[in-house]
Amino acid sequence: MKTFEMRTAIHFGENALGRLKEIPYKRILIITDPFIAKSSMIDLITEPLQSAGKEYDLFSDVVPDAPVDKIAEGVKKFLAYQPDAVVAVGGGSAIDSSKAIREFALKINPYGKVGLIAVPTTSGTGSEVTSFAVVNDTAAKVKYPLISDSLTADEAILDAELVRSVPPSVTADTGMDTFTHALESYVSINHNEFSAALAEKAIEICGVFLLRAYLDGNDMHARRKMHVASCLAGLSFNTAGLGITHSMAHQLGAVFHVPHGRANAMLLPYVVEFNADINKKSRSQKEYLPAVKRYSNIAHILGLSSYNKVMSVNSLVNWIQFMLKEMDIPMTISEMGTITPDKYFGAIDRMAEAALRDSCTPANPRVPTKEDIINIYTRLWQG
Ligand SMILES: NC(=O)c1ccc[n+]([C@@H]2O[C@H](COP(=O)([O-])OP(=O)(O)OC[C@H]3O[C@@H](n4cnc5c(N)ncnc54)[C@H](O)[C@@H]3O)[C@@H](O)[C@H]2O)c1
Ligand SMILES: [Zn+2]
Repeated sequence: MKTFEMRTAIHFGENALGRLKEIPYKRILIITDPFIAKSSMIDLITEPLQSAGKEYDLFSDVVPDAPVDKIAEGVKKFLAYQPDAVVAVGGGSAIDSSKAIREFALKINPYGKVGLIAVPTTSGTGSEVTSFAVVNDTAAKVKYPLISDSLTADEAILDAELVRSVPPSVTADTGMDTFTHALESYVSINHNEFSAALAEKAIEICGVFLLRAYLDGNDMHARRKMHVASCLAGLSFNTAGLGITHSMAHQLGAVFHVPHGRANAMLLPYVVEFNADINKKSRSQKEYLPAVKRYSNIAHILGLSSYNKVMSVNSLVNWIQFMLKEMDIPMTISEMGTITPDKYFGAIDRMAEAALRDSCTPANPRVPTKEDIINIYTRLWQG
């Protein structure tokens, strides 16, 4: 038996932030990052709360990738303030930190039900609707997803006005994160009709609107579409899971601080080739792996398809590489120019082991060995 459930009420469209006046909570802890806390964006959150007579306090020390020491600081603040709801405002880092803070704080002092309202300010992770919170164990240099229904937000508010200020490089990285969620979910061994429908729509939107949002951040039609795509892709992978692009990206984030979406974008062409295994000359057409058919469906949605499935998969790989070039995302680690070969190759073995253990790996359509993962990391150095 399979179950498809959407636990989060999603408020979206014009003036979605108006929902903050109506939420059934009185004492709110806003959790965000310092950039957002200092920008005018925070007023868009506090004004509706104030006008509805709600009390609030702010924890604004979130840093990228949700390191555990910052989560511990947030837990202290939470326990001292004892809110009846958390409003998480920011990208995946702020939303994941908020999920973990609420979860751990209520384990220490289960004083009552505390709501979680997620307000994304990037169009990327879909964290506002997922039961995942990716945390960074900085001492061990490992990033891993916590997965539990209890992490899921009660409400998500999608207001594209909050993403208007996202700079092009973050639009590119987070947009490719959305695309990777949809694609990995679509080919996952746990895909189903519901996850596939959500992924297909997210991919269609990325195909038309991601480059537009990158080229003109004030193109609010493109921004609104990408904000919805990010949420659709989150709903999709929440039920079907992800794959080794994410398992491997988590390690590049933990060890070398490569932004999450960027790491996914760079790895994706290699993982598609690995999962499709289309270059294996000994195979006859009918023996191609199941992912080949699914990738070629995606090529079709992007308008790239050919009557030949292998050519379609190649077109998909070329399309991903085209997007990277157009959006100035480096194609290789060496092109980034920030990581020395010694450090990179010295870390590969440990990153491969951690990637194999990552909870995204079991859903990958092709079972990887440690050598397979090492091969992909090695190719990523120089293409
Ligand atoms: N929980 C999940 O389901 C899930 C899924 C995928 C990724 N993640 C995790 O989410 C994190 C990445 O989240 P992200 O990609 O959204 O990045 P992020 O939250 O780290 O934000 C990236 C940068 O963008 C800035 N920013 C955010 N909103 C902005 C705005 N409106 N204008 C200008 N700048 C803005 C932030 O201050 C930050 O510097 C990673 O830790 C990743 O592992 C979680
Ligand atoms: Zn992701």
